[in-house]
Amino acid sequence: MSVNVNIFHYKSLESTNKTAVELQPWTHLDTIVADTQTAGKGRFDRQFYAADGGLYMSVIIDPARIKIKLQHCTAAAALAVIESLTPVGIQGLKLKWVNDILLDGKKICGILTGCNFLAAKPQKIVIGIGININIPEEAFPDEIKNKAGSIEYNGDKIELAKTIAINLDKYISLSKEEVVKRYNDNLSFVGCETTVQDYANNFEKITGKSLGVDEDCYLMLETNDGSIRHIYSGEICDN
Ligand code: BTN
Repeated sequence: MSVNVNIFHYKSLESTNKTAVELQPWTHLDTIVADTQTAGKGRFDRQFYAADGGLYMSVIIDPARIKIKLQHCTAAAALAVIESLTPVGIQGLKLKWVNDILLDGKKICGILTGCNFLAAKPQKIVIGIGININIPEEAFPDEIKNKAGSIEYNGDKIELAKTIAINLDKYISLSKEEVVKRYNDNLSFVGCETTVQDYANNFEKITGKSLGVDEDCYLMLETNDGSIRHIYSGEICDN
């Protein structure tokens, strides 16, 4: 079955997520793309650096179309990005829990999923994806220079955005078990000692061996006393 993706392409937007949230009427897989953003947002309302030339996009997902749970959507998007970039020659991409994609240990993509609710019922899911493309190291602001990377890609960005949206549609249609399995297959730091800041637990820093994610996409850490912590909101600390 062919999948219909409507692309709305802008030179510059405050944030593709904001435009996607505001878009009315909308249909499943409507995709907002911008060449740059003036107020791109990351997790926890942080600023997301968006150099001109990257791919900044937000895909609208109809909650009725997902077979996975809402908390698996970021994982589905990350897998869709990897699946779309691999055939254009970007090899060796790895996931960093929960929403980052790394190339050679540096973040080349961040994902931000949001959903609005009416009477506790999800109405519209917006999945924002920012990919650094052809950005020279020296262009990144000092505070992210040693962590941010970029892919080299000279193909058509709109075609790439379309492919990502189509692959995303595929991953949200899989079972959560399949998404979790594929996410774990691509996850970095599994089996390694990892420190995570647990945002749901007073920002406590927990160190342990990463066991990958559980069925809910929570990160499992085996601590020194042998217990396993399941962390649902947090961030892996840089070494
Ligand atoms: C993160 O790394 O914390 C998530 C970054 C998500 C950035 C993308 S860029 C396209 C979309 N629009 C936004 O304002 N944010 C997302």
